[in-house]
Amino acid sequence: MIKSTVAALLAENAKLQDVEVKGWVRTFRANRFLALNDGSTLNNIQCVIDFEQFDEALLKRITTGAAVHIKGALVESQGKGQRVEIQVSFLNILGDSDPETYPIQPKKHSFEFLRENAHLRTRTNTFSAVMRLRSTLSFAIHKYFNENGFYHMHTPIITGSDAEGAGEMFRVSVLDAKNPPLNDEGKVDFKEDFFGKETNLTVSGQLEAETYAMSLGKVYTFGPTFRAENSNTSRHLAEFWMIEPEVAFMDLAGNMDLAEDFMKYVLKYILEHNAEDLQFLEQRLLEEEKTKPQEERSELSLIEKLKFVIDNNFKRVTYTEAIDILRDSKPNKKKQFKYVINDWGADLQSEHERFLVEKHFKCPVILFDYPANIKAFYMRLNEDGKTVRAMDILFPGIGEIVGGSQREERLEVLKEKMAALNIPEEELWWYLDLRKYGTAVHSGFGLGFERLVMFVTGMTNIRDVIPYPRTPQNAEF
Ligand code: 4AD
Ligand code: MG
Repeated sequence: MIKSTVAALLAENAKLQDVEVKGWVRTFRANRFLALNDGSTLNNIQCVIDFEQFDEALLKRITTGAAVHIKGALVESQGKGQRVEIQVSFLNILGDSDPETYPIQPKKHSFEFLRENAHLRTRTNTFSAVMRLRSTLSFAIHKYFNENGFYHMHTPIITGSDAEGAGEMFRVSVLDAKNPPLNDEGKVDFKEDFFGKETNLTVSGQLEAETYAMSLGKVYTFGPTFRAENSNTSRHLAEFWMIEPEVAFMDLAGNMDLAEDFMKYVLKYILEHNAEDLQFLEQRLLEEEKTKPQEERSELSLIEKLKFVIDNNFKRVTYTEAIDILRDSKPNKKKQFKYVINDWGADLQSEHERFLVEKHFKCPVILFDYPANIKAFYMRLNEDGKTVRAMDILFPGIGEIVGGSQREERLEVLKEKMAALNIPEEELWWYLDLRKYGTAVHSGFGLGFERLVMFVTGMTNIRDVIPYPRTPQNAEF
């Protein structure tokens, strides 16, 4: 008797022998065919029950969602649709599931409904496939950096600085929120708080990663980040995971090469290791596409899209070139954009990014050399004095997936920039130290993990690619 997972039983090389398996009932029909899933694969194993051999009361308890323990012989299947099946000799119900109240019925549920049942949604094919892919992606990311000589570092979750300077932070405090102690100026006195200063949940591990890059050379962090931006969109979360490599002696061009090589590696890995889940999600999307009018259907299937990114160079375009393209574009001239682009210096909205990627270049785009005043304080100022060595990577169907830059390594320039933005030097004294002691060119980027998972799975709402999404007014689980 071999204890096994469903995946191992369904593998080509599985030996026909006595086996033992535990899992959850997907369906039970004709009082005979039990479809069992244990999360190890998308597929169910068919367990054939000779109802004359079992107690009727026991058979009644085989309901969708119940946890069961099965023993029997793995044999070639007589029926169509599967190569092998289990002829059940032993059956035990480990945990009943009341069919009257169990939310996950063997039918199509809307994603909205499943979001409300996020604790059970991985019992469906779509969500189990998405979360298995998420897991493999995470592994492939660590593997890439490990193979390329990077050190993995953990950056703090609670920080005393605003890495992006965007002021979109969640405060961490033990003070009485309604009645906090006040200082002489009538402001909240954080000296009385737990850490003796104002602290927040991190928006990015970049600044700390920079300190380690300037001693260990090549590092990356992969952790949760938090943003209190009140944007209820299908691409934003209040808690998301970010991968942030940081490399000493690397300039912006090197940063682009790294990002492109890294993303291609990860996509290749997923194609080679999760084909079954990808094919399932591709099929799901193809069905969905059929319901759309011809002109709205996507030209490439899910897997073709991944292959396209792997096989083609990312198009590298300066912000200035992009603005020219956008200004002269049809939707801009016809005022079909919500934000019409008139001037150099305008920040790009997602509609513009999508136009560039999906309509104009039709491939991933790396936009770089942005105006200094629409980007964060730490980016390296170019010789023109008005642009910075920033880069954003835009992906079809996603928009911005990566944001990165070469960092300002010159102490005086950085100080001036911080002063102009009212960032106190005392807050970032340690960050400035890096520019005092052995400063050097260095660069890095941040990849939004959920946006990558969206691209790979074809899911269109970011809430459906993270186990328990955090969005405004929503932290149910
Ligand atoms: O462009 P961002 O804000 O860049 C940084 O935080 C830099 N410190 C990264 C670095 O250079 N080390 O964020 C990076 C990426 C975005 O491109 C996007 O993919 C993702 O993080 N992202 C979000 N994903 C989900 N929900 C949100 N609210 C996100 N905000 C950013
Ligand atoms: Mg960004």
